[in-house]
Amino acid sequence: MMIPPPPLTVGPVTFPNALALAPLSGITNLSFRRIAREMGAGIVVSELVSSAGLVHAGERTRRYLLTHPDEWPVVMQIFGGDADHMARAAAMAEQAGAHVIDINIGCPVKKVVKRGAGCALMRDLPRSADIISAVVKAVSVPVTIKIRAGWNAREVNAPEYARMAESEGAQAVTVHGRTREQMFTGRADRGVIRRTVEAVSIPVIANGDIDGPDSATAMLAETGAAAVMIGRAAQGNPWIFKEIIETWRTGRIPDPPSPEERCRVILRHLELYLEHATESTAVREMRKHACWYTKGLRDGAHFRTDVQKITGLEALRDAVRRYFDTLAAPVNA
Ligand SMILES: Cc1cc2nc3c(=O)[nH]c(=O)nc-3n(C[C@H](O)[C@H](O)[C@H](O)COP(=O)(O)O)c2cc1C
Repeated sequence: MMIPPPPLTVGPVTFPNALALAPLSGITNLSFRRIAREMGAGIVVSELVSSAGLVHAGERTRRYLLTHPDEWPVVMQIFGGDADHMARAAAMAEQAGAHVIDINIGCPVKKVVKRGAGCALMRDLPRSADIISAVVKAVSVPVTIKIRAGWNAREVNAPEYARMAESEGAQAVTVHGRTREQMFTGRADRGVIRRTVEAVSIPVIANGDIDGPDSATAMLAETGAAAVMIGRAAQGNPWIFKEIIETWRTGRIPDPPSPEERCRVILRHLELYLEHATESTAVREMRKHACWYTKGLRDGAHFRTDVQKITGLEALRDAVRRYFDTLAAPVNA
């Protein structure tokens, strides 16, 4: 049996545990973060928010800063390549309710790195230092960073980068153990995460390829990290957090969620969407999530084809209920 890691503490902020939902743009908006918290994730992070978008006062960008007490303490992640924009954006995020500001230094997307933001910062330590210290000075909440292993196999510099960030005032660092060049291919390198843990005295959050209790436990054991962060494996599967917590507590992997439980959570997710989105947005977005929620389930392909055609709220609720009623019935009935 694994002794669960203590709750993660970042400066004055203590999270409920050491299990984080990774920021996933287009996925981890407020409603999914609340679902993840209800399923046991102790740390949730907003999608990346553009600092230029915030500073230029786009109402649309500001919507990314929406938060709710159910997800507190919340980490809001900003990105950009300009220290002044980043400082102003951080102050806006703090005002919107962020308990921690995270700087995105891992995004590999061309559009982002071309502007000197995201992972491009890992190749420019002086400008990174300016950005981190400007953000630290602009807010009273802790500032953290999320990085990759490095730019490519020849430029793996996460430990040195994290040390620089610590000296500029960063209070925790998340490491995704892949380089920018790898994008999402290959395997996350736990060795570079361990070397980062050894290089700094602030907490390190380990990220990459965690897909259940075994890999979460192995990640902690092999890296000595203070917490683990889960991204893709939580998409359509927020129960992963419960599974890991239960396994750490009891030594036994719990049974997979029943059809009733899956149905309940999807409908709950939809209700949470409706609290902050229009009906048509909620339906459109939940169609996407409903497909992820039913991946690998019996007759899921039929359900996914049908659900794509749905435009009405009641029709979506009915389709979800009908599918899971059928799934709950014995196969030969
Ligand atoms: C669709 C998608 C969107 C992502 N969006 C963000 C983001 O907004 N900010 C960020 O720091 N990382 C982002 N990431 C990276 C994840 O947070 C995480 O580092 C990566 O997926 C590795 O973890 P995993 O193997 O558990 O998925 C994204 C990844 C994916 C697949």
